[in-house]
Amino acid sequence: MTQSDIPDLMDPAVQQCPYELYRTLREHAPLYQMPSTGFHLVTGYGLAREVIRAPDQYLSSVSPMALADDGIPQEIIDIYETGGWLPLASCSTSDPPQHTRIRGFLEKLFTAERVRAATPSIDAIAASLLDDLEGRTEIEFIHDFAHPLPMMVIADWLGVPRSDITQFKIWSDAIVEPFSMMASKERRIECARLAVDMQTYFAEMIAERRKKPRDDLISEAIAYRDKEHNPLTMQELMTIITIDLLASGNETTTAAIGSGMKLLIEDEQALAEVVTNPSLVPILAEEILRLESPAQGMFRRCAGDAKLANTSLIQGDLINIRFGAANRDDKQFPNPDRIDLHRAKPGSHLAFGMGRHVCVGAALARQEIVSAFRALTERYDRFWLLPEYDKPAYQASLFGRNLLALHIGCSRRQS
Ligand code: HEM
Repeated sequence: MTQSDIPDLMDPAVQQCPYELYRTLREHAPLYQMPSTGFHLVTGYGLAREVIRAPDQYLSSVSPMALADDGIPQEIIDIYETGGWLPLASCSTSDPPQHTRIRGFLEKLFTAERVRAATPSIDAIAASLLDDLEGRTEIEFIHDFAHPLPMMVIADWLGVPRSDITQFKIWSDAIVEPFSMMASKERRIECARLAVDMQTYFAEMIAERRKKPRDDLISEAIAYRDKEHNPLTMQELMTIITIDLLASGNETTTAAIGSGMKLLIEDEQALAEVVTNPSLVPILAEEILRLESPAQGMFRRCAGDAKLANTSLIQGDLINIRFGAANRDDKQFPNPDRIDLHRAKPGSHLAFGMGRHVCVGAALARQEIVSAFRALTERYDRFWLLPEYDKPAYQASLFGRNLLALHIGCSRRQS
C-alpha cells in the first residue's frame, strides 16, 4: 500500500463514511501521518488507550480553531474583544492547572445521582416531542426530535426559558460549527457575531442570577469557589456555558440520537429486538456510541520527544485520536461493524474518552439517548427512509458525526 492509495480524511467525501479508511490504517499504519495536515492519526483501540493514559506526555492543549490555515483571524478576535469575551481554551483542550480548576466545577454537575433525579424530566421532554408529532407518519428526525431533545434538556438545566429555544438553537449551531475545521472564514466570522449575541444574553442572565439565585447551572456556576476560594471569572463563565456545555454536549448527543435512528433503520432485527425487549435500550445506546462515535477524534500534542507504535515523535507533534476508529477495532470488538445487543462489556468503547479528560456529561448523554429510544420504541415499531429524499449525509467535520437531515417514515405500534 502506497501513500497515494490512502484517502485524505480532510476530504468531506471521505468523512461521509471513514470506516474503510480507518480499517486500512489500523491494519497498515496504526500511527499514520496525514500528508495534508501533518497530524498523526491513531486508529487502534490499544494505541488510543496508550495515548490517553499518558496525559502528561500527550497534552490536550490544542485548539482545533487555531489549526485552521488562517489561524484565528483578527476580525474574529476583534468581534469578541469589542462586543463580548474572547473564549478561553475549553476544558477538553486545556491541561492542568487550568483544566483542574474548570473540571473541578464541571464534574459535579452531571453525576449519576443528579442525572437519575432529572430522568423523569428528560423522559417528559422526549414524550412531549413525540406528542407534537402525533398523527404524522413522515418526519425530519434531526429537526423534529434529535436536535430539540438535548437542547431542551440543557436549556432547562441552564435556566433558559422555553420561549427562547429557537434563538438558542441558532446560537448553539454557531458555537459548534467553527470546531469542525471545515467552516469558511466568512461563516466563522458570522458565528463569532452570533456567539457574542449569545454571550450578551447570558451576561444579562448572570447579572439577574447574581441578584437572585435560582436552582439552575448558571446560579451554581456563580456560587462556585475553587480550592483557593476564587470564583469563576466572567470569561470562564462564558467559556463554560458556550463551549464546555453547549459545544461539547449538545451536538454530540444530537449526533448519537440521529445516528442511532439511522442504524436502527439499517438493522431491522435490532429494532425488533428492542421493541420486544425494552431492557435492551441501554445496550443499544452503547452500541450507537461505539458504532457512530459522535466525537470521532480529539487532539493531543507531544510534550516532549516520544516513541509511539515504533515511530519517533518530537515535541509539538500533533496526534489525533480517532475514537470512531478505535471503537470498531475488531481486536477489541468482534463483528465490530454491526449492532450486537448481547455484546460482552458494551460500555468498554472510548466514545466518551477515558482518564483525565473523560467526558463530564457522559451520564447525562447516556440518559438522553436511552430516554429517546425508549420513548421512540414504546410508540413506534417501524421506521424507514423516505425514498423521495437523497441518501442521508453527514456534515463535513474532522470531529463530529452529525447527520444534516434524516427524512423518515414511522408507523405506530398496534399494541
Ligand atoms: C453522546 C454525547 C457525548 C459524547 C460522545 C461526548 C464525548 C466526549 C469525549 C470523547 C470527551 C473526551 C475528550 C478527550 O479525551 O480529549 C469529552 C469531554 C467532555 N465532554 Fe463530552 N460528550 C458527550 C456529551 C457531553 C455532554 C452532554 C456534556 C455536558 C453537558 C459534555 C461535556 C464535556 C466536557 C466539559 C468535556 C471535557 C472534559 C475534560 O476535558 O476534562 N459532553 N466528551
